Amino acid sequence: MQLRKLGTTNIEISPIIMGTWQAGKDMWVGIDDRESIQAIKAAYDAGITTFDTAEVYGNGHSEKIVGNALHDVRDQVVIATKVFSNHLKYNQVINACHKSIKNLNTDYIDLYQIHWPPGSFGAKKVALEETMRALADLKTQGKIRAIGVSNFSRSQLEEAAIYGKIDSLQPPYSMFWRKVETDAMPYCLENNITLLAYSSMAQGFLTGKFGPDHTFDKGDHRFRNKLYQPENYERVQTALERLRPIATANHITLGQLALAWVISRPGTCAIAGARNPEQAVQNAAAGNVRLSDEHLADIDDIGKMVTDPLDDDPVMWEW
Ligand SMILES: NC(=O)c1ccc[n+]([C@@H]2O[C@H](COP(=O)([O-])OP(=O)(O)OC[C@H]3O[C@@H](n4cnc5c(N)ncnc54)[C@H](OP(=O)(O)O)[C@@H]3O)[C@@H](O)[C@H]2O)c1
Repeated sequence: MQLRKLGTTNIEISPIIMGTWQAGKDMWVGIDDRESIQAIKAAYDAGITTFDTAEVYGNGHSEKIVGNALHDVRDQVVIATKVFSNHLKYNQVINACHKSIKNLNTDYIDLYQIHWPPGSFGAKKVALEETMRALADLKTQGKIRAIGVSNFSRSQLEEAAIYGKIDSLQPPYSMFWRKVETDAMPYCLENNITLLAYSSMAQGFLTGKFGPDHTFDKGDHRFRNKLYQPENYERVQTALERLRPIATANHITLGQLALAWVISRPGTCAIAGARNPEQAVQNAAAGNVRLSDEHLADIDDIGKMVTDPLDDDPVMWEW
């Protein structure tokens, strides 16, 4: 898998990044620690060098699993984690960063991201200037190598960039969720900010494994995904049927097609969540898929069947 530069840094990242929200266990069902560790190691063996986690994923549990799985190869990998919206005051950022470093069993974080904009999830609103000051100090001290933001709009990103160098934006982005294209994406491309697309397989919907009658286990948060709501879910199923022949023609799975499409977008890498080694290895293989212009144009049309009727709210869930 050919590595890419992260923003304006000299940090090299893999176009397919492994996502480890699943390893935190909360909001997912049937996650096993041993399998999570195996999945991360298998992803690395299959060419993925970049891993995404967050302090909030299982209250540090995901970070500990990532730290455990990657300890032996720490200098070969790029670790991205995030500070949550309840920790955005200066001292809170510093403390959260130190805690994440400890959880990750490392000395530094390669990419430290503000997970959600100030004031999200009922948190007290903190001025971006204060949060960015803490991040800049952590960077000067060598605790973090680069700063990123997640779930920020273009205007929030522009404001953060006044106070420090932002090298990545992590938005929800897939064939079925494209709101960033008309908001922050042009700004990112103009300013060399890498897009790290999350839920790039639409949380599994784009793998085609959830049929029209699928129900999620109790505790699996995906029943709140807007794509799963009846007014959208029928269009999702129709679009999947139209995508299948394109995947077959490329000798790949639907999930790999979804990931290959995301990494074909300008300045964009795909974060792929996986619960076991088989998924991680399949996802890594998408890093080497190239789609023809004709197939990319067809996918564009098919994706829009799902996205055009959606409203403007960028958040993918009905929390
Ligand atoms: N910044 C943010 O606010 C934010 C929000 C969401 C996610 N993220 C990050 O982005 C990562 C990816 O997003 P996501 O996990 O929401 O969505 P995703 O990567 O689109 O979907 C992951 C799910 O797809 C299924 N899957 C993955 N690989 C598969 C394969 N090869 N074959 C069949 N099914 C497969 C699995 O479902 P099953 O579990 O049903 O097997 C898996 O849990 C997360 O882990 C996290 O690191 C960040």
